[in-house]
Amino acid sequence: MECCVRQGHWPQRISANRVRHRPQTIIRLPIGRWALTGVLDYHEFVRTIIEPFRIKSVEPLRHTTSEQREQYLKDAGYNLFQLRAVNILLDLLTDSGTSAMSTEQWAAVMRGDESYAGSESYYRLEAVTADLMGFRHVIPAHQGRAAERILFTVLCKPGDIVPNNTHFDTTRANIEFRGAQAIDLPIPEAADTQSRIPFKGNMDIAALERLIEAEGAARIPLVMITVTNNSGGVQPVSLANIEAARAVTARGKIPLYLDACRFAENAWFIKCQEPGYADWSPKQIAQKMFSLVDGCTFSAKKDAFANIGGLLCTNDDRLAEQETHLLILTEGFPTYGGLAGRDLDAIAVGLTEVLQPEYLEYRIASTAYLGRHIADHGVPIVEPPGGHAIYIDAGRMLPHISRGQFPGQALAVELYRHAGVRSVEIGSVMFGEHAHHELLRLAIPRRVYTQSHIDYLVEAILTTVRTAFAASRSSRRLSSYGTSARGSAPW
Ligand SMILES: Cc1ncc(COP(=O)(O)O)c(C=O)c1O
Repeated sequence: MECCVRQGHWPQRISANRVRHRPQTIIRLPIGRWALTGVLDYHEFVRTIIEPFRIKSVEPLRHTTSEQREQYLKDAGYNLFQLRAVNILLDLLTDSGTSAMSTEQWAAVMRGDESYAGSESYYRLEAVTADLMGFRHVIPAHQGRAAERILFTVLCKPGDIVPNNTHFDTTRANIEFRGAQAIDLPIPEAADTQSRIPFKGNMDIAALERLIEAEGAARIPLVMITVTNNSGGVQPVSLANIEAARAVTARGKIPLYLDACRFAENAWFIKCQEPGYADWSPKQIAQKMFSLVDGCTFSAKKDAFANIGGLLCTNDDRLAEQETHLLILTEGFPTYGGLAGRDLDAIAVGLTEVLQPEYLEYRIASTAYLGRHIADHGVPIVEPPGGHAIYIDAGRMLPHISRGQFPGQALAVELYRHAGVRSVEIGSVMFGEHAHHELLRLAIPRRVYTQSHIDYLVEAILTTVRTAFAASRSSRRLSSYGTSARGSAPW
């Protein structure tokens, strides 16, 4: 059947098994558009993957004129964090806390039990996490970085080393705040934004072994793996890589943790790309991921569709006791940990919904659709398209703008000026001299924007690139962007 569709003919036969599994590929539909063919095969004749939800409550978008946007940019000092959200048409600053909650989540919000101690909401969340993650202790926190602060305060001391495939900003900051050292160990292939290998978010296991050998296990209180690897271009991590890290850390008796913010999106990549898992459900894959580690930190603002919340999980009773003592100081009693009961219920429902295959198929296809469409027109993206965002390699695309003139920020400003789209620079504005690349990130909030928004975005990016930059390659205007945008908060 795939062959037929590739050639633009309709298939002749309807399969008896309506939901089949097959590898995900990109095809050109008979109507001339690119689409991802699903791993799931619900329909025999119509191959376009659709949003697996319908809309019950809408929030209007506000169109602005280019004169207005020019003024808003000036008022914000060209720092897109300083824009008022109402003046943005499509907001791709972050996927964190920006999800649309479902009817079931809003219903759960109304069920929230706001008891100070022993809330039913906590026990509902605990039941879901016990089934999915299987950890003995689940400690709620107000968001991911609060869980990180508690974990590293208890586990790290000055002089310690924490390896990760790539630390997220807040993870690194919390480790360094304890006087410990955060070391990134991405695989070497990750340095090339254009290489198209699967599981480019993996940890370099040989480098991990060398580090443990050189520094000694006693200096390494834990090893972390971030799934998906957000700061490493949103790339997924394979189960084989987690298993290999497990084997190495077990030899040195070092706890292995997941930064599990986007565990479900990572599970989908494993299902589609790692041999042996095509017939596993995303939940089974996620369960296996969690079974390989001793604990995790989790921001519920990503793969739980919640607008706030986090979790700190462990199998270690003594550690959990120390963590809950610290939790009480700044977050709250262990059965609510800085959240309202209603938030705990929203997270519990979100953790179940996020693993639905139809949702994950659409989610990853939608991101890839954006990435492929702009890449096919010559916009260099970090390849291959990842889970929750597309990164444009602004340094490569705009070689006439030097690092010191912030190509990523120049592109971000032009995209807002031309199309009202907010994105974010990930390069020298954000990391100063530590920046490896000059990137622009387009993060896609979950269940918020439709296919036509994505099509608008493709057109907006392509016209911005063609008009703004072609017309003003040598314009001095471009070089001034970004100078006042330093010091933005991590998201
Ligand atoms: C990989 C990763 N870890 C940790 C965090 C921190 O989570 P939070 O924003 O809930 O504090 C983030 C947030 O974006 C993240 O992407």
